[in-house]
Amino acid sequence: MTKTLHLSPDDDGITRATKVLHADRLVAFPTETVYGLGGDARSDMAVARIFEAKGRPRFNPLIVHVADAEQARDFVVWSDLADRLAGAFWPGALTLVLPLRAGHGLSPLVTAELPTLAIRCPAHPLAERLLRAFGGPLAAPSANPSGRISPTTAAHVHDGLDGRIDAVLDGGACAVGLESTIVGLSDTPVLLRPGGLPAEAIEAALGAPLLRRSAEAALTAPGQMVSHYAPGARVRLEATHVMPGEVLLGFGPMACDLNLSRAGDLTEAAANLFGHLHTLDARAPAGIAVAPIPTTGLGAAINDRLARAAAPRDT
Ligand code: TXA
Ligand code: MG
Repeated sequence: MTKTLHLSPDDDGITRATKVLHADRLVAFPTETVYGLGGDARSDMAVARIFEAKGRPRFNPLIVHVADAEQARDFVVWSDLADRLAGAFWPGALTLVLPLRAGHGLSPLVTAELPTLAIRCPAHPLAERLLRAFGGPLAAPSANPSGRISPTTAAHVHDGLDGRIDAVLDGGACAVGLESTIVGLSDTPVLLRPGGLPAEAIEAALGAPLLRRSAEAALTAPGQMVSHYAPGARVRLEATHVMPGEVLLGFGPMACDLNLSRAGDLTEAAANLFGHLHTLDARAPAGIAVAPIPTTGLGAAINDRLARAAAPRDT
């Protein structure tokens, strides 16, 4: 067991976090989407520790975080399209998948031996300070045990990973609340994961529709396990009534246990989604019933995460 330090969002916290990272050890840090579990992306030891701490299958590659697009060019083969999307949305909730560049210097564990790399520049002042102070790329999956709900507060990280990681840098609640949108740019631009940046905004910047991966392809792609983001309780979607023992997660004006957004606002619902699932799950209900949620804009990613939370599980 490691004693997990709680670091404050100030110079002292950043200095201590940087020391931990330079020792090839792990720091969870806030981004605008969810908390990431960061380790030096160039270090086999640090990256191996990430997989170990999360209980994550080794074939599921990690996102590398950089301070700016300039730094990204050290690791991937940059392109005009990458430039256009990074110019429009970085720093922000967009991850680009691009071909790895020769001499990238990253641990091969990061990409699970794929010829491509997922890379993003997060829009959170503490993440940016940490990346600049550390001075290198940080591999960072969401800071939750593999298969569980992603963390949007430092307390969620402690709940899931205390004793398994070295430190948590506390930056309060994440503003977006959903993981980044992932776009593959190795070939024709393709939406690999809906997320905190609506696909419509990316399509507007591209001036063309994104390819959508078929559900079948999604199943064979790394990391897109069907059962994911799972709370302990069973999750039931499109609920119009509550069954005995269930709690109701609402949307819009309605009677319920917790409401994602009483005003029916998808941005507010995204920010509340994982936190409300954590809270309801902690009550150990027979099940969590979820009211219908629109599928446009951020609703696509919200419904994607809920569908995974509701999927049949092995355990
Ligand atoms: O918002 C986010 O993206 C957060 C914060 C911490 O940045 N990170 C995050 O990481 O959600 P993670 O590991 O939970 O999800 C990364 C996803 C996985 O589904 C993985 O399979 C996919 O990215 N991925 C990573 N590298 C890839 C690649 N080369 N090609 C396709 N998918 C990739
Ligand atoms: Mg994750």
